[in-house]
Order: sequence, then C-alpha cells, then structure tokens
Amino acid sequence: MPRPLRHPGRRRRAAAVARGQGVGVGAMAAIQPSGAHGIETHRCRELVCEEAGTPPRLRLRDCPPLRATGSSIVVQVLATSVNPIDVKRSAGYGARLLSLKGAGRFPMVLGNDFAGEVLAAGPGVRQWKAGDRVLGTLPTGARGSHATQVVVDGKLVRPWVGDYAAAEAAVLPYTFTTLWRALRSVGLDPRTASGRQVLVHGASGGLGQLALQVLAAWQARVTAICGPQSMDLCRALGAESVVDRHTQGISSIPAVFDASFNFASWPDDALVVDRLREAAMGHATTVHPLLGCVDQHGFLRGGYLAWRAHLAAARRARSKGPSVRYAWVVYQPDRDALDALQAFMAHGAVRLPIGFQAPLADAAGAFRHVAEGRPGRAALLTP
Ligand SMILES: NC(=O)c1ccc[n+]([C@@H]2O[C@H](COP(=O)([O-])OP(=O)(O)OC[C@H]3O[C@@H](n4cnc5c(N)ncnc54)[C@H](OP(=O)(O)O)[C@@H]3O)[C@@H](O)[C@H]2O)c1
Repeated sequence: MPRPLRHPGRRRRAAAVARGQGVGVGAMAAIQPSGAHGIETHRCRELVCEEAGTPPRLRLRDCPPLRATGSSIVVQVLATSVNPIDVKRSAGYGARLLSLKGAGRFPMVLGNDFAGEVLAAGPGVRQWKAGDRVLGTLPTGARGSHATQVVVDGKLVRPWVGDYAAAEAAVLPYTFTTLWRALRSVGLDPRTASGRQVLVHGASGGLGQLALQVLAAWQARVTAICGPQSMDLCRALGAESVVDRHTQGISSIPAVFDASFNFASWPDDALVVDRLREAAMGHATTVHPLLGCVDQHGFLRGGYLAWRAHLAAARRARSKGPSVRYAWVVYQPDRDALDALQAFMAHGAVRLPIGFQAPLADAAGAFRHVAEGRPGRAALLTP
C-alpha cells in the first residue's frame, strides 16, 4: 500500500509559490482523495505527442492518478525540461530502436527529467516521504516526465538541494547524467582530471556548458569549440582557450589533448578524435548515428552500418595508442551521476541558463526554442 500523503505545510508551500516553484491555486484545488487506497493526489495531466511530425503534435490530456507501488514514488512535477532528443523523438527519430524499450510508439509522453515534490511512496521506499523536494531522471520509455505527475524508482531521485528554482533544477538531471557518462567513459574524474588538456566541441550547448563547469572545478585545462556568439560565455565558464568554429577549422587545433568530447556534430567526430595526443585517455561523443542508422536502414543493415562506423572511429582513436578509449555515449538513468549532481548543486556549482519557460499547456514554444537551437535550456512548468 502506498504511504499516505501528509499535507504539505502551508507555510512551505506559500514560500515555494513565492519563489515561482509552487503548484499554484489551481492544483491545490485539484487535490482530491483517491478513495480506494486512502491517498490524496493532485489531478494528473500529461503532454502527449500524438504522432510523428514537425512541428510536434502535442496535446495536454487528463490521466488517471498515479500509484506508488513497490520501490517507486509518485512525484508532483513542478518543472521538467525539453531537450534536443525530445524534439527529435517528436519527429519520429529513433522510433525503431527505441521501440525495443517501448519508447518508439506514438502517442508518447516525452521528457527525461524533473524537479518536484513527493506525493506518495511505495511500501518498499524508506528514504522518501510526501512533501520531500526531489529531482530525478526517468529512463527513455513510453511515459516520460512532461506531465504533472511521474512515477519513478525511488533510487532515481535525489534531494533537490541549493537555491535552485524549479526550472533551474529541472534542466540539470538529464544533461548532467549524459555528461557524467561521457566523462566516465574516457576515465575523467576529480582524481584524474587535474591538469589534463581537454577539448570540448559543442561547448556552448547544455552538455558543453556543464562540461566546462565540471572540468574547471576539477582543474582540467579546457579548450572550447563554439560559435562566435558564445566565446565569452565559454571563457566565463572556465575554458582556458576558445576556438571559434566558424573562423578556425578544427583540424588547425594542435593534437595535444588528453581527452576530447563531441557534443556538436557527428561529421566532425573524426576531426575531434585527431586532436588527441599520443597515448591519450580517450574520446566520447553523444552525437552518433546509432538511432539514425536503424531508422533509415532497419535493424540488420542499420545495426551493421552503425557498428562499422563505430569500429572505424574506435580504430582512429586507437591509432593514438592501444589503450585510448572511444565511446558512443547513450543516456540512461545513472545513480552515480545523480549523486555527483547533488554534490555539485549543494555548492551551486553547476547551472544552465533558462532560455525559455512556459506552462505545460504552452509546450509548443519550448519545443520550437530547442528545435531552432536558441541559447539556454527550455523548461516546462506544471501544472
Ligand atoms: N546520445 C545521447 O544519449 C545524448 C544525450 C544527450 C544529448 N545528446 C545529443 O548531444 C548533442 C548536444 O546536446 P546538448 O543538449 O548540449 O545540445 P545543445 O544545447 O543544442 O547544444 C549543441 C551545441 O552544438 C553546437 N552545434 C550545433 N550544431 C552544430 C554543427 N552542425 N556543427 C558544430 N556545432 C554545432 C551549437 O553551439 P555553437 O553554435 O555555439 O557551436 C550548440 O549549442 C545533441 O545533438 C543531443 O541530441 C545525445
């Protein structure tokens, strides 16, 4: 049986509303006993992407109240983010391969991260209780976080610490988790990173900005590649030097790097790999053709083509030394990443600017903002 919801303190709620984090009068009015299980839940609504298309075919609809069972919790979402993958999936990208995880079929609810307040905890959950403020990640699946409530494994949330408003907290977990997996795949951590020369392509984006902040905190020496409008931003976030990708070719950057990251463009991957020095640590890319190959050519041929592309790129990296790592990074919830995010947030040490925020009901603008590559993350506030 889910544990009952204790009434969140009025004073705390009023303070949250004053900070722009509250669920608002409408949602308070919508709190209703669910009867059978004796818990109270807010009205549940979800943003459904009805079919593949550009612009995305989005509709807000009511859904049955969610239940916390086993080790799961129900979270009242206060904010959730829109990322490039949401825009791509709304257009049908990745549908074939993601269908293996139940995430390829329309209608679907997109979104992978959130900040909110625990509504109910399943019987196997010890660490969370109603009213706790948390942030977390969801695996890529049929029902994501673009909703007023999510059910999530209690192990995939962490306390929402620091002075972050709901939108500021919600834009971090998915992108930070992906970054963390990229850093780990090349062997960078606080112990190994100090003094290392690291090249970051796509440094002005969400992943890039978090990479600059984390690597600066670890005292790595970062060279950022970005567009001319973002060079000052990259310096301010800790890049030691900045390359304007429009005026300086990547191939003109000296091959001196211990590690490199590609958060920008698959066609540039080989150029970035070639900037590694002999016996470097490695290279990781979040932009790779895995999903696209399978979409375009089916499981067998697409899988084969992707495997061949990976093999060729990994060989290129290993031409710098037999132990040089090469990785295609794939997002998935990661408990170590959430621990690390919590530690950084406790010091206010990682932030992403919010370029656009809107209520869930006005999500189209957030998707447009991300699709057009405008600066700053997009956040959806609920309800
Ligand atoms: N594999 C995974 O699981 C996974 C997870 C998360 C993200 N991703 C992908 O990783 C990429 C980065 O994510 P993000 O959230 O950081 O995206 P983002 O915020 O949109 O940033 C991407 C940055 O790359 C640069 N860029 C865009 N197109 C480019 C091009 N054709 N050539 C060179 N640079 C280009 C842009 O900056 P400038 O114009 O300043 O250079 C942009 O700011 C996205 O493609 C995203 O879909 C993959």
